[in-house]
Amino acid sequence: MRIPLVAGNWKMHTVRQEAITLAEAIARAVSGLSAAVEVTLCPPFVFLEPVRQALADTPVQLGAQNVHPEPEGAFTGEISVPMLASVGCRYVIVGHSERRQYFGETDAWIARKVRAVLQGGLRPILCVGERLEERQAGRARQVVQAQLEGALDGLSEEALPELVIAYEPVWAIGTGQNATPQQAQEMHGFIRSWMRARWGSKADSVRLLYGGSLKPDNAAALFRQPDVDGGLVGGASLKASSFLAIVEAAIGVSSQGGEA
Ligand code: 13P
Repeated sequence: MRIPLVAGNWKMHTVRQEAITLAEAIARAVSGLSAAVEVTLCPPFVFLEPVRQALADTPVQLGAQNVHPEPEGAFTGEISVPMLASVGCRYVIVGHSERRQYFGETDAWIARKVRAVLQGGLRPILCVGERLEERQAGRARQVVQAQLEGALDGLSEEALPELVIAYEPVWAIGTGQNATPQQAQEMHGFIRSWMRARWGSKADSVRLLYGGSLKPDNAAALFRQPDVDGGLVGGASLKASSFLAIVEAAIGVSSQGGEA
């Protein structure tokens, strides 16, 4: 039984007081909910510490949006896994499509980050997903498979319970055009079978999140799919009410046992 995870990726949004107010509102509301879901907030690096304080003694966990694979060194402007661990991070988003697109991150570079995060005792949320032209050319699975192979090849099965994968089709991110539940399940099922071919039934412990225009009105239908174990939320995570509605959708579906 996989506990659903709903993670908010704030991207490059909020200033300090907005970050604190948003985190406090979410933490307060989540504290009053049942524990059938894990909730994580990923603010910009500079607000990790105040957000950590806002989340203290609540079930909401802290995550980062990116990391450098080396533990320390002369890498001006970068942030390491031990730094993130020391401010209380539990999760780290790795290989987001915006990092791939705007910052030239390759699968090999992302693979190093995944390993560094696991070695440092944190949990990577590895993002994969095809672009619109790749889907239109019928290459969506091929692209996602190459991203999985590039980032995860050779990973030992002991790491699997710590691993989270987010399927975020690039054409759905910030566009208001989410993948349909069928499209999401089709790709999530494919990712699950790719993992099972490598790691057998151990692959069933990996949570597969959907991301891309996830909103209160489409979350439940997506979360009801058997291989959708929660969501990575961008825009809708910047308002406490919409993020909480998505968290509640995850709780509602998990308490019904999904749609096996
Ligand atoms: P949106 O929810 O704004 O489409 O962003 C999704 C995303 O990229 C989360 O990482």
